[in-house]
Amino acid sequence: MHTNKTILVTGGAGYIGSHTCIKLLEAGYDVVVLDNFSNSSPEALRRVESLAGRPTTLVQGDINDHALLARLFGAHKIDAVIHFAGLKAVGESVEQPLRYYHNNVTGTLALCQAMQTAGVFNLVFSSSATVYGDPASLPIREDFATGATNPYGRSKLIIEEILSDLHRSAPEWNLALLRYFNPVGAHPSGRIGEDPSDIPNNLMPYIAQVAVGRRDHLSVFGSDYDTKDGTGVRDYIHVQDLAEGHVKALEWLDRKEGLKAINLGTGTGYSVLEMLKAFEKACGKPLPYKLVDRRPGDIASCYADPAMARDVLGWSAKLGLEAMCEDAWRWQRDNPKGYE
Ligand code: NAD
Ligand code: WQD
Repeated sequence: MHTNKTILVTGGAGYIGSHTCIKLLEAGYDVVVLDNFSNSSPEALRRVESLAGRPTTLVQGDINDHALLARLFGAHKIDAVIHFAGLKAVGESVEQPLRYYHNNVTGTLALCQAMQTAGVFNLVFSSSATVYGDPASLPIREDFATGATNPYGRSKLIIEEILSDLHRSAPEWNLALLRYFNPVGAHPSGRIGEDPSDIPNNLMPYIAQVAVGRRDHLSVFGSDYDTKDGTGVRDYIHVQDLAEGHVKALEWLDRKEGLKAINLGTGTGYSVLEMLKAFEKACGKPLPYKLVDRRPGDIASCYADPAMARDVLGWSAKLGLEAMCEDAWRWQRDNPKGYE
């Protein structure tokens, strides 16, 4: 199948972007990737092409480069943009707020300006459950109050507000703001996956590195939360399901319904210790851990009400915890040093 449509994927070499590029190619879209490789490797794209059996077009560069964007939109007839490019480390954003606002907020402005000039009005934006701050109740619905506790989260909120203003200014804009919960797992081939360049901030890649022997134990941040076993509870979603959600979001843009913020989660929360147990089962060995203090800024529990994604996009997560851990383990076991 070929759709005759070309999608610009910013950040397409990254963790979620690479998995989404495969789904797009499989669904018959042509794909142009814009990435500066600040947190990814060209090898990821080579593997995307070999898994999908089709090429992508790579434009190496920065979303803040206006001249490059103008050339890109001049050279390719783009039907829609999926905008993953961004910096995402919460702690780093506290240390370097200007870098985060420049990259994420100013970069998105540059992209939207170039889209407007080129007459491209279809955008899928990578937002985050972090925009809900500490939610008043669970599960989290899209109409809940928003709030940010760090510059990374604030950059996502600011962008959501900019995109809302854009939509109010001109009705031809179609904008899907996808609020991801906790993406984990990898492509079932074990050929692409999450490849943190530093010590992992997130739970699943940290556990995977303990399993492969790169770290000696997991520190469990807090065991006195008001949760099932005292450890933090999150809505982990398989990156393959998440990628599929983007294909559905493109189809929704075509229905020209304007702007919508939509949760992409499973609706199920698992604790840190449940995640650890499930990963031990997948890798077939016990994994050492220590209970330590809470990590500043963390909340006790967070999981989605996934009803809107089902009703609006016709999308629900299909893959469970077992697949998340098995696929993450296959990737880590077969690529102990990532793409290196
Ligand atoms: P990632 O770091 O693996 O991918 C981001 C990609 O964007 C990388 O390839 C990086 O090189 C590229 N990039 C960054 N800044 C750029 C710039 N200025 N110009 C061009 N390319 C640039 O991250 P990911 O996990 O795939 O996340 C993708 C998006 O989803 C991000 O916007 C992130 O904030 C958002 N998100 C991620 C999570 C998560 O936990 N992974 C959760 C919610 C939202
Ligand atoms: C999950 C749970 C930790 C590491 C972050 C961002 C959020 C979004 C997703 C982008 C928590 C515990 C973790 C470890 C642990 N990203 N943990 N030991 O904090 O829910 O969300 O990533 O938008 O914005 O804040 O994900 O994977 O870091 O933590 O015990 O070494 O695992 O306390 O309960 P988090 P996480």
